[in-house]
Amino acid sequence: MPREPIGILGAGWVGSVTAACFAELGHDVVVRDVDPERIRLFSSGRAPFHEPGLGAHLERNGSRLRFTEDAGEVFGSARIVFVCVGTPSTHSGDADLSAVHRVLDELPDVDERVLLVMKSTVPVGTGEKVRNALDARGLAHVGYVSNPEFLAEGSAIRDFMHPDRVVVGAYAEAEGDAVARLYEPLGAHIVRSDVASAEMIKLASNAFLVTRISFINEIANVCEVTGADVVKVAEAIGLDHRLGPHFLRAGIGYGGSCFPKDSLALKQLAANSGYHFQLLSAVIEVNELQKRRVVHKLQKHLGSLRGKRDALLGLSFKPDTDDMREAPSIVLAGRLLAEGVEVRGWDPVALEEARRRLAGVALSDSLLETVDGADAAVIVTEWPELRGLASDEVRAGMRTPFIVDGRNLLDPEETRAAGFVYEGIGRAASLLAELPETPERDSEAAL
Ligand code: UGA
Repeated sequence: MPREPIGILGAGWVGSVTAACFAELGHDVVVRDVDPERIRLFSSGRAPFHEPGLGAHLERNGSRLRFTEDAGEVFGSARIVFVCVGTPSTHSGDADLSAVHRVLDELPDVDERVLLVMKSTVPVGTGEKVRNALDARGLAHVGYVSNPEFLAEGSAIRDFMHPDRVVVGAYAEAEGDAVARLYEPLGAHIVRSDVASAEMIKLASNAFLVTRISFINEIANVCEVTGADVVKVAEAIGLDHRLGPHFLRAGIGYGGSCFPKDSLALKQLAANSGYHFQLLSAVIEVNELQKRRVVHKLQKHLGSLRGKRDALLGLSFKPDTDDMREAPSIVLAGRLLAEGVEVRGWDPVALEEARRRLAGVALSDSLLETVDGADAAVIVTEWPELRGLASDEVRAGMRTPFIVDGRNLLDPEETRAAGFVYEGIGRAASLLAELPETPERDSEAAL
């Protein structure tokens, strides 16, 4: 069956996954990025970041994928062009739309009908501004559709191929139809809307997810002072069919390239329109404080942290990615270094990224080397490799057998039975956990 050629602007996470998946559905796809190194890597069939399944998709569909630095090549071969450029936060917390503006600047004065499909996360109202700019340039025949992405890193390929929903916001029915048709083979629920609502669906979805995370983190904090167990509490909350089980994992806070920036962007968007989004402001503040609570847990058990050695285990913002953007490990490492701690860091895939972002942290890909002589091991990211952390080898290597489980990955009782002092997030009995009474702990004698 002949398929529509597709253009993609931006070969980041979203652009490259979108390209690989449309190629998997049988389309010829031309992808443009401004970074020559990125284009070189993709052209040789490799991805410049860690995303499960992406490499296999690129390899299998190599004949249908073309990567280029030339925007003209994209508009020369495709009528439907997805905009997948980055929209990071500016210093004011608003979304930085300069890459979106560059796309418009580079748009040739095409004679034929072209459809720009916005996948990048943008403030509500962006579509209208782009529409007006196109009309003012005499490009009324260039269509515009909002088609926000809901891809989570680490499961992006699966999220694309098996979406909960596909949102298509259009000004003209036929333009929306053209985009909706591309997703038909996935059998997905397609939500058709106006452009502003599609833009808001994306921001509101992420805002709701972070609200759930900060909510359960606050419940966890209250569990800690009342003796309840947040894991049990979340399990039972999640069984209510009106609430559901997802995004109720308490931990040291959310990070990543999306949640922090999108929540801030929605807060600022509301503020710019004269509305104070109180709930979202609190959600963001709870998350900031949550990352720092680990330091209090360490102080509670170790006293002064100066001169202590702490192992941060897991540095990416979540497992199955090497992405460290807004990773809690960055704030934690900074706080601990400021307290005079000797900080060590381990991660199975993010070490290269960590070298750039964690100055002053001794990095290793060996778990045992990282915990060797440590006064505390902090699980920052729930990599599966850490499930076996409470082992005899680790206990023997550490100066103090103390685990702070920032992701509630381990079983508290099993970990304690294995000879460790264990502190989770909102776990029952963490109030009772005490290290041996040795304020000036100097050696194995403390054990
Ligand atoms: C998120 C959304 O899940 C996607 O739907 C969305 O498309 C994407 O942002 C985006 O806007 O592009 P992502 O940031 O890749 O995807 O990762 P998530 O799996 O959502 O996790 C985000 C953060 O929340 C992580 O730091 C994770 O550890 C934390 N989290 C998640 C919790 O602390 N508790 C939970 O219960 C769930």
